[in-house]
Amino acid sequence: MDKLLNIALPKGRLGEKVYDIFEKAGYGCPAIHENNRKLIFENEENGVRYFWVKPSDVAIYVERGAADIGVAGKDILLEYNPDVYELSDLKMGKCRMAVAGMEGFFDNPERTLRVATKFPNITKKYYSSLSREIDIIKLNGSIEIAPILGLSDVIVDIVETGTTLKENNLRPFETIVPISARLISNKVSYKFKNKMICEIKDAIDEYVSEN
Ligand code: PRP
Repeated sequence: MDKLLNIALPKGRLGEKVYDIFEKAGYGCPAIHENNRKLIFENEENGVRYFWVKPSDVAIYVERGAADIGVAGKDILLEYNPDVYELSDLKMGKCRMAVAGMEGFFDNPERTLRVATKFPNITKKYYSSLSREIDIIKLNGSIEIAPILGLSDVIVDIVETGTTLKENNLRPFETIVPISARLISNKVSYKFKNKMICEIKDAIDEYVSEN
């Protein structure tokens, strides 16, 4: 068995901050600061191997065991429902999943609501809890444009600062669920690499609770 613990980190702005937490918790990998094109870094001294993956792919690597642990947004976990353990809330990457639309939009309950989103499962679940009939329009980005061009009535999307909505004259109507980054573990790794995974989890929890 691989002695190093394989850790999938989300590439990008959030990932840098996530790595920072691992480093401050005592699991640094100095080489990571030297090269920004390389995707895999290891530090045999403290037994870790990091790799950068697309944020929405972290849960796939962890679910299939290519990574033992990783950090994924709660949005991704709710949308894809991967078969992994959720170990900790890192209390960062905080945002919310919200329904938004054009200023003055009136929802006529007698008509099917057209909802554009990158998150069809979260959207379906939310509207089914309201017994509201919807037509989902699955998009991959720039969701905010959909109601402006009349492609949809509303959107379900991530709102962090609210700037993107504001600058496109949209307004948040409802919050569906708060989101933050979570430490997740592969289920088999959790059993066979339990000591190391628990040590990292505890060190991270301690750092998060103190900061
Ligand atoms: C997300 C989301 C919004 C924006 C919200 O997009 O889809 O567009 O962030 O942030 P704000 O409330 O601070 O303006 P992201 O940057 O993740 O890009 P993506 O659409 O490519 O996923």
